[in-house]
Amino acid sequence: MVIERAPLEDELGDVLDKAIRGCDVPEADVAQRAGLSTDRLRSVIDYCERLSPEELDRLAAVLRLKPAGLRAVASEDYPLPDISGLPFCLYPLRMPHGIGVANAYLVADCSSDWGILFDTGTSEEGLWRNWPQKIKRVAAVFLTHYETEHCGGIGGIRRRYPEAPIFGPNDRDRPRGVVALDDGAVIREGGFSIAVRSTPGHVESHHCYRITVPNAPGGRPLLISGDLLFAGSIGGAFHCGKRLHTSLHNMLAQNEDATVIAPGHGPLTTMANEKQFNPFL
Ligand SMILES: [Fe+2]
Repeated sequence: MVIERAPLEDELGDVLDKAIRGCDVPEADVAQRAGLSTDRLRSVIDYCERLSPEELDRLAAVLRLKPAGLRAVASEDYPLPDISGLPFCLYPLRMPHGIGVANAYLVADCSSDWGILFDTGTSEEGLWRNWPQKIKRVAAVFLTHYETEHCGGIGGIRRRYPEAPIFGPNDRDRPRGVVALDDGAVIREGGFSIAVRSTPGHVESHHCYRITVPNAPGGRPLLISGDLLFAGSIGGAFHCGKRLHTSLHNMLAQNEDATVIAPGHGPLTTMANEKQFNPFL
């Protein structure tokens, strides 16, 4: 199955759940401050009831979420932007994961038959099912983190492209043979520049990768955001909420509005779009 269009990773209940976990206020107090019963808030999180726009705005104020963003997520019609203008070809490799989608990405010069792979998806099968026929060689692989839905296809890549170096964050769970990269490193591959940003929070060792083409100065940059930022939401703070927010803050400071965001789950978006609509930013 090739997935043409990924659904949002998080719906309203997931967004509220993440916001409540991140705010250090008990759920009952959040409900009370927003003028809701605890039962009603719980059944909204469990998708059994819906909130009025006024109730959404009150919850947004209590949870310090962007009201327009929360309404956009609740409307199930979250705006997604035009992502044209990248100075290279971008192939999203979308694979089913739970009720959503996990993404790997191939970046390639549109006139060549080689590419750079970011994450390796849920499995080898998932990767080959989505693989563009045009791409015959992989110059390098970059991993955002080591959860199985992001590095599941690593064995297949090793077998088919044994010459491709595999890079990722330094971590005790780093798969054998993965070369650790530090924050701030810049790798040059063909005409591409890949800048490494350490972005802990979702997990302790997590990288985002910013891809530019120095010879195409007007082209939009691409940020592989892993499980830090999604269209309409953010990654779960399984390691540390405070560090996740520091990583988000740094990412906002380091990437201009035109940057295209390629997340580990859900659809493509842009920095401008997420600044305008993402409830958490
Ligand atoms: Fe993930």
